[in-house]
Amino acid sequence: MNIQHLKQSFAFHFNSESKIIVRAPGRVNLIGEHTDYNDGFVLPMAIDRAVWLALRPRDDGRLRIHSLDMQPAPPPSTGAQDNPTPDSVFEVHSLTKGSGWLEYPKGVAYHLMKAGYELNGFDAVITGDIPRGAGLASSAAVELAFARAFAAVSGFEWDAPRMAQIAQKAENEWVGVHCGIMDQMAGAASKEGHALFLDCRSLEIQHVPLPKSISIVVLDTSTRRGLVNSAYNERRTQCEEAARWFGVKALRDVSVSEFTRKRKEERGWSEIVLRRARHIVTENARVLEAIELMKAGNVKRLGELFNASHDSLRDDFEVTNSALNIMVECAREQSSCYGARMTGAGFGGCAVALVKEENAAEFVHAVSAVYRQRAGLEAAVYVCKASEGASLMLG
Ligand code: GLA
Repeated sequence: MNIQHLKQSFAFHFNSESKIIVRAPGRVNLIGEHTDYNDGFVLPMAIDRAVWLALRPRDDGRLRIHSLDMQPAPPPSTGAQDNPTPDSVFEVHSLTKGSGWLEYPKGVAYHLMKAGYELNGFDAVITGDIPRGAGLASSAAVELAFARAFAAVSGFEWDAPRMAQIAQKAENEWVGVHCGIMDQMAGAASKEGHALFLDCRSLEIQHVPLPKSISIVVLDTSTRRGLVNSAYNERRTQCEEAARWFGVKALRDVSVSEFTRKRKEERGWSEIVLRRARHIVTENARVLEAIELMKAGNVKRLGELFNASHDSLRDDFEVTNSALNIMVECAREQSSCYGARMTGAGFGGCAVALVKEENAAEFVHAVSAVYRQRAGLEAAVYVCKASEGASLMLG
């Protein structure tokens, strides 16, 4: 990201210097998929792609936002003549729902105020390089960028888990997407060079250093699937149903051996719901094993867990699509690849691979070529660095 360009855009657009730069990263989930809303375990890391804001505090509660990448929200029907520039504008003390990306900052403002924070407004230019709808948590990054900005201009402390919860509320209740807490926690609390082990029930975190001599490669299939919300919500409902059957608060409370034992005893359970539950139960076990393997530097077995996770998401949880399956296959065929799996909500978007560092460039090249040939699609494949969670710079 060219920060100079961002600052110049601010100066050009608002006719004054920006004071603060905010960066909020996307994330790639290494393992622990669809476990967050089952009170389970996840292991994401923040990546070196982010949403950026250059901003200048205001004395009132107004936000004027100029996006370098997105269309401005349509101006309100009254007072449009007061707003001749193509900015998106809102006032934190008179929020109304609309549509488009502006709902993320509005939702964050609403839920911050609901939690008792007093907010100041600001002028901002926003840009970013996280592909949208690719499973790399671009919306959580927008939410956290604004939460971080509000904290800076309103003078309250940045409390990462609390801000992650508020951002999640904004997404759940204001935007209406029933995501778990993983993306927001990864974007808020990650540490450079580390993956973030998160217990989604207690919100306890552990920064786990990435093993030496490996590269984390993101493989964007370039497929995006609509209707992802309804399929996501259906999985959530099925998991809740399974938890009721097991008589537990959430599937996090079922171990692999309990699952196997009960499954044998019971008759008449819905096969599909049992498969959903099996994914969650085994995936939680995989995350716990993955942490130990990362600490021990056992990347070979870690790769096997990546593979097992993908197979379970494909066969039991059924959230892959054929592009993701082909991509994972292409990655696994390379001798430098320890393992590969889909990442994020699924139904399209990205996979992630664990690759020998010294062969990473070759891997990127080879997988892109084989995928193009086999899927007939252009992939975006890149090595990612584990980066810091939402942060500030003087601008
Ligand atoms: C999306 C959601 C997360 C999580 C993943 C699947 O990214 O926002 O909360 O449920 O899907 O692991």
